Amino acid sequence: MGIAGLGAAAGEDLLTNNDLEKMVDTSDEWIKTRTGIGARHITRPETATSDLAYQAAVEGLADAGLTGADLDLIIVCTVTPDMPFPSTACLLQARLGATRAAAFDIEAACSGFIYGLAVGGQFVASRTYDTVLVIGAETLTKITDYTDRATCVLFGDGAGAAVLRPVGEGEGILSTVLGADGSGGELLMQPAGGSRLPASHETVDKRLHYIHMSGSDVFKFAVKVMGEAADAAIERAGLSREDVDFLVPHQANRRIIDAAARRLGLPADKVIVNIGEFGNMSSASIPVALHEAVRSGRIKRGDVVVLVAFGAGLTWGSTALRWCR
Ligand code: ACO
Repeated sequence: MGIAGLGAAAGEDLLTNNDLEKMVDTSDEWIKTRTGIGARHITRPETATSDLAYQAAVEGLADAGLTGADLDLIIVCTVTPDMPFPSTACLLQARLGATRAAAFDIEAACSGFIYGLAVGGQFVASRTYDTVLVIGAETLTKITDYTDRATCVLFGDGAGAAVLRPVGEGEGILSTVLGADGSGGELLMQPAGGSRLPASHETVDKRLHYIHMSGSDVFKFAVKVMGEAADAAIERAGLSREDVDFLVPHQANRRIIDAAARRLGLPADKVIVNIGEFGNMSSASIPVALHEAVRSGRIKRGDVVVLVAFGAGLTWGSTALRWCR
């Protein structure tokens, strides 16, 4: 199976490093040199994750020449759903008029889109379904603590949609590698709001509904796992590093991307990077970057593209595909 259509959306407003300088003790220079981020797109108060997902879905379906009525399944990958339930995928199903489609969410944080492609792809490969919509959609800025300079400079909001359909032999998704290490869960979490610490005045006062992160531990984990996961996906596809035309990594930190590319021996012109304008959009990062690279004509039919991500959980995943459109 392969990607038959792509769409993307981002938050309506731009939050620049200069804006952040006025909010916390930081500087444009620190943020650029330590993360590579110059700005991020953020949503307005009235915009929710399903709104961005809807925009991306409409574009992705049009790109594939389809409508909501053609969908058999909708998978939304997100850690910032509109609400705990119903799922964001169900909200989207109604809005798209996708009356035939089953719908559910997947939660694998920044690795979400890779997990979603893997799950959605299995339904197409097994011929259970023909047309599956996989969306990475996040409004991380809604759970970002804008008094914490170590995290608030990192995140932006966006959504990327991919329509999966059957394709010819040797095209589309060639291999997938997924992994998790739950023992590292505390390194990156939103502590409250679930059954362990239900929302209360105390959890709000203690700012436990925001992202809590041990940045340097996550950094070390990310550098290690990105290279290993991509290598494993390349090998599982029966390819070698030299066959890779483009790497589309999760956009968490420019230094993590550069280290992973170095480890894989890939020159900079083979690595798709858009973190400067978008920051870290979690599960939306990869599909938004892929969409941009395909739209601009950088990725072309026949190219071997490797997607690779890491995220909270801890989780990781990589997919090798031959672009077939
Ligand atoms: N401005 C200025 N100084 C800062 C800032 C800031 N925005 N943030 C931290 N600092 C300071 C720290 O306080 C520290 O100062 P100290 O030495 O006086 O204590 C110093 O900079 C160095 O801090 P480190 O945390 O060691 O900085 P590092 O180089 O590791 O960069 C960063 C921090 C950018 C967070 C990095 O660790 C990183 O990118 N980690 C990975 C994060 C990530 O990818 N998370 C994924 C989350 S998405 C998801 O799954 C939901």
